Amino acid sequence: MRVAIIKERRAHERRVAATPDSVKHMAAMGLEPVVERAAGEAAYFTDEAYRAAGATVAPDAAAALDNADIVLKVQRPLIGDAAGGDELHMMKRGAVLIGLLAPLQHRDEIAAYAAAGISAFAMELIPRITRAQTMDVLSSQANLAGYKAVLDAADEFGRALPMMMTAAGTIKAARVLVMGAGVAGLQAIATARRLGAIVSATDVRAAAREQVESLGATFITVDEEAMRAAETAGGYAREMGEDFQRRQREKIAEALRRTDIVITTALIPGRPAPTLLTQSMVAGMMPGSIIVDLAVEAGGNVEGSRPGETATTANGVKIIGHLNMPSRIPVDASQLYARNLQAFLALIVDMEGRLHIDTDDEIVKAALLTSEGAVVNPVLAPPPAASAAQPAAEAGQ
Ligand code: NAI
Repeated sequence: MRVAIIKERRAHERRVAATPDSVKHMAAMGLEPVVERAAGEAAYFTDEAYRAAGATVAPDAAAALDNADIVLKVQRPLIGDAAGGDELHMMKRGAVLIGLLAPLQHRDEIAAYAAAGISAFAMELIPRITRAQTMDVLSSQANLAGYKAVLDAADEFGRALPMMMTAAGTIKAARVLVMGAGVAGLQAIATARRLGAIVSATDVRAAAREQVESLGATFITVDEEAMRAAETAGGYAREMGEDFQRRQREKIAEALRRTDIVITTALIPGRPAPTLLTQSMVAGMMPGSIIVDLAVEAGGNVEGSRPGETATTANGVKIIGHLNMPSRIPVDASQLYARNLQAFLALIVDMEGRLHIDTDDEIVKAALLTSEGAVVNPVLAPPPAASAAQPAAEAGQ
């Protein structure tokens, strides 16, 4: 069976869906990987490395996709794009497409996959159960995003992060505040600590306290009782009431006076990101302070953050709103994503290298969007049932 890996053509995307390592694995599974020329270039994986690992290199996307049984993508395929072409309609009917397909944000495109006879799987819909941990793309990518956010902040910051004692005097350690202690936030805390900063963090879920403290950071509590009710059965946060948000802002405004760098990562599945820093809170920060808004693509946690831009406020605070943070660390992001795909492939390809899609398997069922010409996933049923059934997707890529 042919497995196609094509170059990602969407803006801000440097990742690739397979690496020489994962290609080698596919070949060992009895699959025939075909990689488009220069598909891995932006992540420094060469055509020679793919070839040496057992792939065929095709001259363009059409040649790679021609007759492919499985197509591995990072982002959703282009459909009728003037510059990039029409990747979807280069795929044969009956092909399996696997990627970060952002189904709830692009429902019309999912209908187009069905019409094109494609069986599409959205990796971000894979449930966060123990058996699926190796396929958890939200975690693998958020972890790197949290790391990179701290480095981006450090890069823009006019001071050092660690305390340094020099003959010319002592440099004070920087103070970092991480808002939202999920996967990205916890990695941001760990990274800032490794760089020697003094770190504090906040979250609406009471369960986050222990994780934050185990990383050597201080946890800022707003209301313990309200926080105990803030976590859903799936481990995600609920949207908090106006009163909680007001008290959270008061508490944070106080902490901000002693803060040099803020990393915000707060997301609520199925809802726009909560506003954690208002304009007046940012106006109270010291000149030279840095904010990285990792939720910028979901509407932003910071008033004044702009997608894809670094804004500087009147009081000299920089607000960084990079898009697609994982893509800013493309080698590791590709490597982890490719491993997530590799684990998923093992679920739908049998020992003889043939497709075996078991729709009774809860992982397969949760990720499958389209099959035999129809949209089959309940999350794509008309709202409001859709958002309640599988909320994780809205917060995805
Ligand atoms: P996320 O990306 O949905 O949100 C990031 C963080 O923002 C969360 O910790 C959330 O509680 C927090 N948040 C939301 N609103 C906030 C507000 N107003 N103020 C401050 N913080 C706010 O979360 P992520 O990273 O996907 O993690 C969600 C949960 O899933 C966590 O409990 C995590 O431990 C769990 N998880 C479980 C896995 C598994 O395999 N079982 C794998 C990965 C994560």
